[in-house]
Amino acid sequence: MMGVSQFHEFETREELAEALAAEVAGKLGTDLESGEFASIALSGGSTPKLFLNKLGERLSGNSEMIYFAMVDERFVPVTDEQSNERMIRQQLGLQDHPPSEFLSLYEDNLTPEELAIRAHGVLLNDDELPFDVVTLGMGLDGHTASFFPGGNRLGQAVDPEGSSFFEHIEAAGSNGPRVTMTLPPIVSANNLILHIEGAEKRAVFEKALEDGPADEMPIRHVLRHPDANLQVYWAP
Ligand code: 6PG
Repeated sequence: MMGVSQFHEFETREELAEALAAEVAGKLGTDLESGEFASIALSGGSTPKLFLNKLGERLSGNSEMIYFAMVDERFVPVTDEQSNERMIRQQLGLQDHPPSEFLSLYEDNLTPEELAIRAHGVLLNDDELPFDVVTLGMGLDGHTASFFPGGNRLGQAVDPEGSSFFEHIEAAGSNGPRVTMTLPPIVSANNLILHIEGAEKRAVFEKALEDGPADEMPIRHVLRHPDANLQVYWAP
């Protein structure tokens, strides 16, 4: 499998969440043990909730030494049910984690375009790249992060030579504007994980491994990137 180094299959979603939480906590732990900051960029949506909950339990006590970022965000305030930041903070138990160590992708007075520029500057300045861990999800349309088929700025978001770390993007399937991390910081992660569940997503993933235009199933931009060293976690 091109770009896919391992496919980890579990019998249940519970077992997957447990194993993935242990794996991710272990990867962050190497930095923490040496007294350094660890860094992770997380995806939202519904699939990661159980995993994040278990990860939160494992990290409790250490989370002040972790820099959290998001792979993408729906452009809504953190009080909105759709907010990925809200879900991630809730599941991890990070309600009070300092904003300086949690890179938000929403601000009341900024447009998505302005926010993407700002987030790029913050991440550059915080000097947390490459991330120790980046987790991705996937939609049934073959999107990952907010790399949506037909996205108005898909080309910029998946440009392997692009120099900005974030892009604003909107597509028919995106349910409003979003801000997404771009391809370069995602594929440069020391540990890149794709977490998908269910037979339908597995079939979509297998189709994405086949030949065909990358923009039609934008996860292909990740799968085909020579630096991407992807670990896939799947359960029925
Ligand atoms: C989001 C994401 C997105 C997600 C997929 C899968 O904000 O929706 O970060 O890329 O990973 O859409 O979402 P589900 O897990 O809800 O199916």
